Amino acid sequence: MSNTDISKCPPADRPEYAFIGRSNVGKSSLINMLVNNKKLAKTSQRPGKTQHINHFLINESWYLVDLPGYGYAKVSKAMQGKLQTYIVDYIKKRENLFCLFVLIDSRHEPQTIDLEFTTWLGESKVPFAIVFTKSDKLGNNKVASNVAFYRKELKKQWEQLPPLMVSSSETGLGRDQILDFIESTQIGSE
Ligand code: GTP
Ligand code: MG
Repeated sequence: MSNTDISKCPPADRPEYAFIGRSNVGKSSLINMLVNNKKLAKTSQRPGKTQHINHFLINESWYLVDLPGYGYAKVSKAMQGKLQTYIVDYIKKRENLFCLFVLIDSRHEPQTIDLEFTTWLGESKVPFAIVFTKSDKLGNNKVASNVAFYRKELKKQWEQLPPLMVSSSETGLGRDQILDFIESTQIGSE
C-alpha cells in the first residue's frame, strides 16, 4: 500500500519497522536486501525516488515501511514542507511503529541534518536504531572509524545510545543482525 496520508495506512495491527534517512542513502535497497527481493521496493541512482509511505506486509505478520528521503536539495521547498508534514505525522502517530531505522551513508562524517533528526527522535521518544549503509564502498577500518566518530558525536548528547549496525545491500552484510534485531523487538509483545 502506498500513500501520503497516515489515515490511509493499513490498520496498525501488527509490528511495523520503517526506514528513513537522506535521499539516496539506500533505504529501498536495504528493504529489498532484507527480504531477498530486488524488485519489492523501487530503487534509483537518482535521489528522490521514493515519494510515498510504502507498506510491505511480510509473512502476514509484520510491516516493513519504505519512506521518502530527507535533505534532498532538488525537491522544491514547498514539496519538502509537504514531505515533512506527513512524515512527521507518520513517525509521531503510528502507534505500531516498533522501530524506525535511521540510515546513514557509512562513507560520510556525521552530518547536521542526521544529528538533528536523531535528536528530535530521542526527544520525541521514538524508538530508533542507526544503520550505516553502503559499507561495501569502503574498507573495514574506515567503516569502523566512521562509526566510532558517530558514536562519539551521539555520546555528547545521550547517555544511552541506540543500536548501531552496519549494512551493505550489495554483499548482504548486516542482514542477519537487522532481522535478529527485528525479531528481538517482538519478544513478549504478543
Ligand atoms: P530515495 O528513495 O531517493 O530517498 O533513495 P533510497 O534511500 O531509497 O536509495 P536507493 O535504495 O534507491 O539507492 C540509491 C542508490 O544507491 C542506488 O543506485 C542503489 O543501487 C545504491 N545503493 C543502495 N545501497 C547500496 C549498498 O549497500 N552498496 C552500494 N554499493 N550501493 C548501494
Ligand atoms: Mg527509496
